[in-house]
Amino acid sequence: MTYVPFARKYRPKFFREVIGQEVPVRVLKNAIRNNRVSHAYLFAGPRGVGKTTIARILAKALNCKNPSGGEPCGECENCREIDKGIFPDLIEMDAASNRGIDDVRTLKEAVNYKPIKGKYKVYIIDEAHMLTKEAFNALLKTLEEPPPNTVFVLCTTEYDKILPTILSRCQRIIFSKVPKEKVIEYMKLICEKEGIEYEEEALNILAQASEGCMRDAASLLDQASVYGEGRVTKEAVENFLGILSAETVRSFMKLLLDSQVDEAINFLRELSQKGYNLTKFWEMLEEEIRHAILVKSLQKPERIVENPEDYEEFKNYPLEALLYLENVVNRGKVESRTREPLFAYELAVIKTKIVKEIIPISRLGKVEVKEEKPTKEEIKEKKEEKEESLKDKLEREAKPILRELIRNGFEEKGKLIIKLDEKTYERFKKELEELKSRFPFVEYEVEVKKNSSRPEQDEAVLKVMELFNAKIVRVRDKGKGD
Ligand SMILES: Nc1ncnc2c1ncn2[C@@H]1O[C@H](COP(=O)(O)OP(=O)(O)O)[C@@H](O)[C@H]1O
Ligand SMILES: [Mg+2]
Ligand SMILES: [Zn+2]
Repeated sequence: MTYVPFARKYRPKFFREVIGQEVPVRVLKNAIRNNRVSHAYLFAGPRGVGKTTIARILAKALNCKNPSGGEPCGECENCREIDKGIFPDLIEMDAASNRGIDDVRTLKEAVNYKPIKGKYKVYIIDEAHMLTKEAFNALLKTLEEPPPNTVFVLCTTEYDKILPTILSRCQRIIFSKVPKEKVIEYMKLICEKEGIEYEEEALNILAQASEGCMRDAASLLDQASVYGEGRVTKEAVENFLGILSAETVRSFMKLLLDSQVDEAINFLRELSQKGYNLTKFWEMLEEEIRHAILVKSLQKPERIVENPEDYEEFKNYPLEALLYLENVVNRGKVESRTREPLFAYELAVIKTKIVKEIIPISRLGKVEVKEEKPTKEEIKEKKEEKEESLKDKLEREAKPILRELIRNGFEEKGKLIIKLDEKTYERFKKELEELKSRFPFVEYEVEVKKNSSRPEQDEAVLKVMELFNAKIVRVRDKGKGD
């Protein structure tokens, strides 16, 4: 049995099997159903997104013996011959290789013959922008007076190279790149049919690499499954493509945000040694940072970013840091064009070293704007708070060694009275002196032991009291409940 590459084996045979390209499919199906098929179509769009595929399905639907709802049956003789590529009324021409006027002349002559087997003669002219001017002009004449039951499908990847005179005679159908999730859907379908085991992340990388081109997706998957002997793993795909997964790129991004410069540089060097595509890696890094910024800044990032949950952990970094990183990485990209890319990237990594020092402006100074006026209760609360905070304030402002003393003090008529014994007083004299000079509401109460047998000490205490203008307050009974 000969090996058929996936891209050929899994070419859709019906409109319903086409992935993406909803607009072209709808337009053509409706035209067939309503018998309003145009004489000439121009299919424009990137390569590998289904232009030839859809042109063949169109040819089948037009010639099928039992069509239904715009779809070919796939089983009649005509359908089967078209699938095999042996149907006489389907003529495919590649303008890239048949560029000359002679080919177009041959084509013009052929057009004059009626369909041999089917109802329509269908001409698919691939890479139509490659036709020479003379060939174009010859084709134009045919398009001006198209023979009945003839359909031309001109395909091109370079829409703007098609002459306006041709454009005006064709119905234009625009094909677009296939979105990533649809590319993945296609690969999953192939994996299921082929019995290939796969890791989600591996398909993600392949889809990323194929950039919306289904042909590339199919053939990359084909190669990856051969490489991994029937298993498509993230690691194998990374190795095989020389492209990292978005997940790995994000872990690198984290190194940068955490200023782990050594690790980041080692990582880069290793990539380079293993022959990875550094430029591609850097592009992905930029993309991941952009996504993280969007997820951090937008209320509904899911409208723009595919899997916002992948960027959850980056919400913990200040936006300023992410923006700075983006800037540095972007500069690295620009510089990589004029010097050795590895060096440009390394320099960028070093510049990220100060990322951690970026303090969000919001944390630098708190500006509170209160729009509503405070209520009476709030004012009262505030006042109480203020009165209560005498001790708290002192605790905050005073030297730490005095805190314990202050905590034991009590407030009375707007004064804070601190009780202390002689010994303590002696010890903290200097600090207390300073405290009193700063806070006039502080007063001391030095407890004099009543049966002190050392009058000279009492005298000293009294002297000190005099010095501080301290008053003697009766010590409260502990049991006094107030
Ligand atoms: N929209 C699609 N849905 C499913 N498979 C597709 C699609 N577009 C392309 N392919 C795959 O890619 C291969 C090439 O597609 P083709 O139609 O020849 O691309 P184009 O003519 O646009 O370059 C097909 O054989 C098929 O395997
Ligand atoms: Mg094609
Ligand atoms: Zn049929």
